[in-house]
Amino acid sequence: MELPPPLLISRKTSICNYLFLLLSLVVFLITYSSYLLPSSSSVTSLANLIWPNPKFAKKSKEKLPFAIGETKEVCNVFNGKWFWDEKRPLYEESECPYIQPQLTCQEHGRPDKDYQHWRWQPHGCSLPSFNATLMLETLRGKRMLFVGDSLNRGQYVSLVCLVHKIIPENAKSMKTVGSFDVFNIKDYNATIEFYWAPFLLESNSDNPGKHRIEERVVRKDSINTHGKYWKGADIIVFNTYLWWRSGFNFNILQGSFDDEVKDIVEVSTEEAYRMAMKSLLRWIKQNMDPKKTRVFFTSMSPSHERSIDWGGEPNKNCYNETKMIEDPNYWGSDSRKSIMQVISQEFGKSKMPISFLNITQLSSYRKDAHTTIYKKQWNKLTQEQLANPFSYADCFHWCLPGLQDTWNELLFTKLFYP
Ligand SMILES: *[C@@H]1O[C@H](CO)[C@@H](O)[C@H](O)[C@H]1NC(C)=O
Ligand SMILES: *[C@@H]1O[C@H](CO)[C@@H](O)[C@H](O)[C@H]1NC(C)=O
Ligand SMILES: *[C@@H]1O[C@H](CO)[C@@H](O)[C@H](O)[C@H]1NC(C)=O
Ligand SMILES: *[C@@H]1O[C@H](CO)[C@@H](O)[C@H](O)[C@H]1NC(C)=O
Repeated sequence: MELPPPLLISRKTSICNYLFLLLSLVVFLITYSSYLLPSSSSVTSLANLIWPNPKFAKKSKEKLPFAIGETKEVCNVFNGKWFWDEKRPLYEESECPYIQPQLTCQEHGRPDKDYQHWRWQPHGCSLPSFNATLMLETLRGKRMLFVGDSLNRGQYVSLVCLVHKIIPENAKSMKTVGSFDVFNIKDYNATIEFYWAPFLLESNSDNPGKHRIEERVVRKDSINTHGKYWKGADIIVFNTYLWWRSGFNFNILQGSFDDEVKDIVEVSTEEAYRMAMKSLLRWIKQNMDPKKTRVFFTSMSPSHERSIDWGGEPNKNCYNETKMIEDPNYWGSDSRKSIMQVISQEFGKSKMPISFLNITQLSSYRKDAHTTIYKKQWNKLTQEQLANPFSYADCFHWCLPGLQDTWNELLFTKLFYP
């Protein structure tokens, strides 16, 4: 019998070797992928839309409640550019009686209006226009709830302003009861509500009126303290960030606020925030029905407290800023990045579909959109403060109408065209 030429043998073995190597690689990847992926997942890897991972999101997309269409898969609506739009704002400040005096900038003397005229344009597609009729029809017999801090309250009020014009005067009302603000739409048997819980968990800052506390303490495993009031909501929009920023460490209460000797441990802000996210996800899993309800989470609202972050003069801030930041890569300097990482790590593990409103980047350009000094001042300003407006400018909150209307256009997009 003729032996095959040696060359062929060696080629065969080399193919076998390749196959073996390939197989080993596949086995290795399957075995260790769970270790490789989370650690290597940069904050950008979840740039788009819904958790859990895209595979599940795609499968469940059809079934997402309230959806009437979808956004092009390739389009990350949070990635885009601001364009000047003569037809904006979507409503006038004076037309919406619900805006809290903390956000009515024109009434408090803001001299410029340019900040009201910008429209967000994603790179890969266009946002559908906000349709108040569709929003109200969808809410018929339903309860929509915003839960979080004053920034979420701003977005809540913006949404109320966006829909209230088409509701007759005697068919709507706004009431504040305890931690709730409730906008009632009678003919629709619908409510749009806000619930004050700046940490989502129980804390020493939960009083909706008096919560200016220096030393903040959050109680571990306490999501039901507030969560029991959120049950039965059909659409929930959560946020929490601003209040966690109190330095490097954060106080976590292990027992109860009634304990005589309080058992408090200090952990890093990231660790504390992670704990809150875990509790939130557990609450969502236990209380929300993915077939009937929708959950949104709004990312960190950026602030503009230090001009040097965008190449301005030292010791200045957002006061007197009327133009946005042009650098598309601008991000700012606080702990937003590490918090974003915590969010994507924790939400990445969730099996519940949660729509993420990733407004951080698009808002970080908008140093022009803050309330600064044009708002109701809660304390009488001193001569010293008056002499230096930079010292008391609010660079956290946003004028309405303004930036937060865009957050609601994105909410609208994700609700109806996920
Ligand atoms: C949110 O958007 C920013 C900027 O586009 C991106 O860097 C970040 O990774 C996104 N976050 C998540 C969790 O997708
Ligand atoms: C708004 O939504 C309503 C209800 O779905 C629909 O009848 C109407 O055509 C929509 N308007 C626009 C301008 O798309
Ligand atoms: C109004 O909506 C609530 C749910 O939010 C529902 O329980 C109630 O039956 C509705 N009432 C009417 C009259 O439709
Ligand atoms: C505000 O900006 C204008 C124009 O950029 C400048 O002339 C003015 O001095 C600034 N005001 C303050 C208080 O910095």
